Amino acid sequence: MQEQDKALIAQAALAYVKPGMTLGLGTGSTTRYFIDAVGKAVDEGLKIEAIATSIETEEQGKRLGIPMRQLRDVEQLDLVIDGIDQIDEQFQVIKGGGGALFREKLVALQAREVLYLADSSKFVRQLTGPLPVEVEPFGQTHVERLLADKGISYTHRETAGEPFVTDGGHLILDVALDRVPDVAHFVRELKSWSGVIETGYFERQPDHVLTLEHGNIKLLAH
Ligand code: A5P
Repeated sequence: MQEQDKALIAQAALAYVKPGMTLGLGTGSTTRYFIDAVGKAVDEGLKIEAIATSIETEEQGKRLGIPMRQLRDVEQLDLVIDGIDQIDEQFQVIKGGGGALFREKLVALQAREVLYLADSSKFVRQLTGPLPVEVEPFGQTHVERLLADKGISYTHRETAGEPFVTDGGHLILDVALDRVPDVAHFVRELKSWSGVIETGYFERQPDHVLTLEHGNIKLLAH
């Protein structure tokens, strides 16, 4: 059901892609459906260029024949379309379930408009986490000590029993938010710690969120 919803939302997002756009392509299972739809449209003659938020997305885009550019080569992106893990009533967002948070955030920061795709499971009253925190391996122990000092628990992100390594060669701690009263404040503190590269709390909130409500596509505006 959720997979079907993701596919429907992703297909509907294609309506927001206009010829000539420089488009940011997100990462994750929802966005994967969207990139497939973009690939088909390009195949049928749509002229766009795209920036990927991960190696996985870059490879998918290239495989589908989407003209891929590098972030450093464009001044501004017209639109970024990406998935999310959680969104609360204030449009605060947590991303990074797929580990691409660092590039996703940088691409979003350079975009004129941000559209996130969210099935119903992503909506929460308050962000509950976990919050992905990307750390430089050499700084990992330091960050872990500081978290422990604050009584905050975390798990090491793994894949197939091995540490998960991001595209930038970093590690991810999935940090519990149950003892964090104000996520935005906590994130500002986290980002002042040596060793922390980025967090999955996206300060650049989306302009729009596309979702499915009672079987109908709905665009929520911030
Ligand atoms: C990737 O790092 C994430 O930010 C994803 O965009 C997010 O986890 C949503 O993923 P799904 O579309 O797979 O739910």
